[in-house]
Formats: sequence, C-alpha cells, structure tokens
Amino acid sequence: MKRVSPKASLALALLGAFGLAAHAADSAKPDDAKAQQLAATVCAACHGATGQSPLAANPHLAAQQAEYITRQLTHFKNGVRTNPIMLGMASMLEPADMKAIGQFYALQAASPAGTKDAKRAALGQNLFRYGNTANGVPACTACHAPTGAGMPAQYPRLAGQFFEYTVAQLKAFRSGERGKNDKDVNGKMMSAIATRMSEEEILGVADFLAGMR
Ligand code: HEC
Ligand code: HEC
Repeated sequence: MKRVSPKASLALALLGAFGLAAHAADSAKPDDAKAQQLAATVCAACHGATGQSPLAANPHLAAQQAEYITRQLTHFKNGVRTNPIMLGMASMLEPADMKAIGQFYALQAASPAGTKDAKRAALGQNLFRYGNTANGVPACTACHAPTGAGMPAQYPRLAGQFFEYTVAQLKAFRSGERGKNDKDVNGKMMSAIATRMSEEEILGVADFLAGMR
C-alpha cells in the first residue's frame, strides 16, 4: 500500500474541517456551493482548481461525465474501487456532495496533454476507431463515443486524459485489480476488454487519447 503523501494529509485535514462545518450548519442538504468549495480547496491540490490536473498520476476530471464521477466516488468510498488516497477523500463525502461535485467537473473545459509518439498514437487511433478483430478488442468508440467524450450514464470521457493514467487504468483492468469487485458491473465490462489488449495496444491507444480534443 502506498503511503499517503503530506499533500494528501493536508487535503484530508481540510476535508475534515469542511465536514464539520457542514454538520454545524444544515447537514441535510449539501449544495452546489459546498461542492465547488470542496473542489477548490480539497480536490484542487491534486486535480487542479477546475479539474485540470497538474500531475499525470492524478487524472483530469474536467469535462468528465458527471454520473461517472459520482459513481467512482461512491466506489472509492465503499471499496468497490480500491485506492488508498481516494478512499480517504471519498469517505468524507455524502451522496449529495458526490453528485454536485460530478456536475461541477462535467461543466469545466478539458485541456489535453498531447501525444508523445505519433507513430504509436496512429496505431492507437486505429484501435480506438475499429478495434482489433484478431484478438477481439472492440472499437472504443462503441462505448466511449467517436469523440472520446464518453456517454451518460456509464461511459467515461477518455479524450485528453494523461497517457500515464490511462495506461495505469488499462493495466489495472487487465490484471483484474480494477473491476474485481462483484458489485462493479461497469468495471467488469471494461476489464473483459482490457484482458484482450496487448501492451502495444495499451500504450498506443493511451497516447492517442492524450492528444484527443
Ligand atoms: C492527494 C491527491 C488527491 C486528492 C486531494 C484528491 N484526489 Fe482524486 N484521485 C487521486 C488519484 C491518485 C487518483 C487515481 C486513483 C487510481 O489510480 O485509481 C484519483 C482519482 C479520482 C477520481 C477517478 C477519476 C477517473 O477518471 O476514474 C475521481 C472522480 C476523483 N479522484 C475525485 C476527487 C475529488 C472529488 C476530490 C476532492 C474531494 C479528490 N479526488 C481529491 C488523487 C487525489
Ligand atoms: C462495451 C463498452 C466499452 C467498450 C467497447 C470500451 N469500454 Fe472502456 N469503459 C467502459 C465502461 C463501462 C467503463 C467504466 C468502468 C467503471 O465505471 O469503473 C470504462 C472505463 C474505461 C477507462 C477508465 C477511465 C478512467 O477515467 O478511469 C479506460 C481508460 C477505458 N475504458 C478505455 C477503453 C479503451 C481504450 C477502449 C477500446 C480499446 C474501451 N475502453 C472500450 C466500457 C467500454
């Protein structure tokens, strides 16, 4: 297990303070203003002020599908998706916060990091559009849309995401580390696809997606 960084501890402390403040006020209905405040003060440390993350380990959240964000936060909190940092963050959020936070990020503009290797990305583009009949990988466009923007309510945006993050997630799906929980219906759907993908395909498609607007 990774140790929680000082930055994460600070963010956790801030999150705790907000939780208390919300309780002191009216705990029944957390609102959009609270979600925006949480995003600006707690999540911003790792995901950027408007969901454009400064570091490749932390995914961009800007322009991500709202329902997908809400679902991932729920999954981090209940352990369906395991990540020590995000477990800490999501544990403090109520369902209404998760919903409002998802809506907040969905409205922010994406800022693609860019492709690293044009040749590799070209192979990835081909896989993204047409899939690979030889190993049974379907076209990514079928679920994540031809624009890579994803579709409500299950399919996340992939366009513009960090190369490193996309590679890490595809490998986690491929090894079954992500999507292993019986309750993770959507994760299993993606895991079944990733298990067919070659190393080259993972790197290629991730590089293509990093440059997609
Ligand atoms: C200390 C850094 C840190 C902080 C603070 C943080 N996150 Fe994260 N977040 C991460 C990392 C790292 C991941 C990637 C987890 C993984 O690899 O599965 C992540 C993943 C996510 C994801 C999944 C995105 C996807 O594409 O699947 C969501 C949603 C998310 N964070 C929302 C939030 C929200 C909302 C907050 C504030 C309440 C927050 N995060 C605070 C580091 C952080
Ligand atoms: C049959 C539908 C389907 C197809 C086809 C599909 N995916 Fe997915 N994908 C999903 C679903 C559903 C999720 C969300 C899983 C979850 O909720 O945890 C997902 C999630 C992902 C994620 C995680 C995103 C994040 O922010 O963490 C990546 C990366 C991904 N898919 C890449 C691909 C690639 C690359 C292809 C093509 C080779 C592809 N997908 C084809 C259904 C699909």
